[in-house]
Amino acid sequence: MMKLIFEGHACFRVICGGREILIDPYISANPLCQKEAAEFSPDFILITHGHGDHLGDAVPIARRCGATLAAQVDLVNAIDHKGVETVGFNLGGSFDFQGVRITMVPAWHGNGIAAGGNNVYAGLACGYIIDDGARKVYHAGDTALFGDMAAVISRYGIDCALLPIGDFYTMGPADAVTAAEWLQAETVIPMHYDTFPAIRQDAEAFRRAVEEKTDSRCVVLRPGEAWEM
Ligand code: NI
Ligand code: MN
Repeated sequence: MMKLIFEGHACFRVICGGREILIDPYISANPLCQKEAAEFSPDFILITHGHGDHLGDAVPIARRCGATLAAQVDLVNAIDHKGVETVGFNLGGSFDFQGVRITMVPAWHGNGIAAGGNNVYAGLACGYIIDDGARKVYHAGDTALFGDMAAVISRYGIDCALLPIGDFYTMGPADAVTAAEWLQAETVIPMHYDTFPAIRQDAEAFRRAVEEKTDSRCVVLRPGEAWEM
């Protein structure tokens, strides 16, 4: 069984095989997340890119609870990760985390770290496929719609796709419906919307559009809600 808990914006906890993988822990500065970073104790942390709404509280959480932090290698090299165990891998690559296979896939987005007014280049933004041997979940990260979702990512046989729908910084709802058509996942969950005024969206309208135009079920989660596969 794989359980996904939505923590707002692009942050999900993936629980499988008795392990907890935390993705993009934007907790303390997230206006939609009521939790404290101190409440999280994952075994593993995955970061899609260095923007503040994704890197978030990752390093302090990893330092406190000893979680391993994994990201694209240039991002790992760009952050101060002293005292944190890291995995710096790259697009197309996979590795095994205690029986869970994690694959890094492309995302079309910028990637930098705001450092006192200077933006530090931080490599390539990415998405992830997490495969516990029974289920595969695809976290798209921040991305535009791109053709390799159809040509490459759909080949993995995704069970659940976590797709940004906010527009402005990422693809909007119409392109996310096209992504859902291409990915053919059993379940689609929208993310990266409503957190800021620029990305307000009608998630219920997105849900209806996905279910009209694809064979996928669309599940809209509020922060704190879970979905079990
Ligand atoms: Ni971003
Ligand atoms: Mn973002």
